[in-house]
Amino acid sequence: MSSPAFLTDLTVTPHNEDAVTLDGVSAGYGEGPVLTDLSLRIHCGKLVGLLGPNGAGKTTVLRIAMGLLVPTAGQVAVLGRRLDSATDRSWVRLRIGYVPQVQAPPALPITVADSVLLGRWGCSFRFLRRPSREDRALVRETLGLVGMGELAARDLAALSGGQRQRAALARALARRPRLLLMDEPTTYLDQEAQRDLVQLIERLHAQLNITTVVVTHGREAGWRFDREIHLTNGGAA
Ligand SMILES: Nc1ncnc2c1ncn2[C@@H]1O[C@H](COP(=O)(O)OP(=O)(O)OP(=O)(O)O)[C@@H](O)[C@H]1O
Ligand SMILES: [Mg+2]
Repeated sequence: MSSPAFLTDLTVTPHNEDAVTLDGVSAGYGEGPVLTDLSLRIHCGKLVGLLGPNGAGKTTVLRIAMGLLVPTAGQVAVLGRRLDSATDRSWVRLRIGYVPQVQAPPALPITVADSVLLGRWGCSFRFLRRPSREDRALVRETLGLVGMGELAARDLAALSGGQRQRAALARALARRPRLLLMDEPTTYLDQEAQRDLVQLIERLHAQLNITTVVVTHGREAGWRFDREIHLTNGGAA
């Protein structure tokens, strides 16, 4: 299957650049460290599993890569840029697609298409700017990629768990990310929906070549990662 033009233009060709580098990173939330002297490297173009038990710090690693949590020690680089300042952190956030661990039910009615459009927030579409025709076209194309074209006009609250995860994936992809971070995307799905989502993510990774990091508890969903990073007690193996 050929890649849609808008995404082909923006994806990263695999080369030796690291997509994410943590060097001797320590971090926490004020009550003792959650990560201590953690170093890891994720190469561009790979599909990487970040595994570990509850509380190991998997979500914390994603938050650091997104610049949402500043480490107390060590260095972080994402997409070739060191995250030293607030400007650096804003720069990477615009280039990362993020699928959070929990898809909170929407508090207001919103269509699936508009929820995906929100993924463009901060790109061409922002405060006091109307979404452009290109934004809308991109949303349609992205919904097609995740097999949700037919559901564009549906209320987001009326989706099944699996459909809601795919809508969240579309929202993350709508910002044309160079790095896709997914936090336990299969957790609340039944086995069939888990298998469908894993296959979709693996197919999109092969098709679009976006460096993808998936946090997951284990291999029960049948992931075939290029590489696995195991996080235990704040360290990686
Ligand atoms: N906002 C926060 N404030 C205080 N402590 C936090 C916060 N977020 C996480 N922690 C603590 O940091 C540690 C690591 O949390 P984190 O969410 O990174 O783990 P995880 O590996 O993603 O776990 P899970 O598999 O349960 O999602 C835990 O002990 C948790 O209680
Ligand atoms: Mg987590």
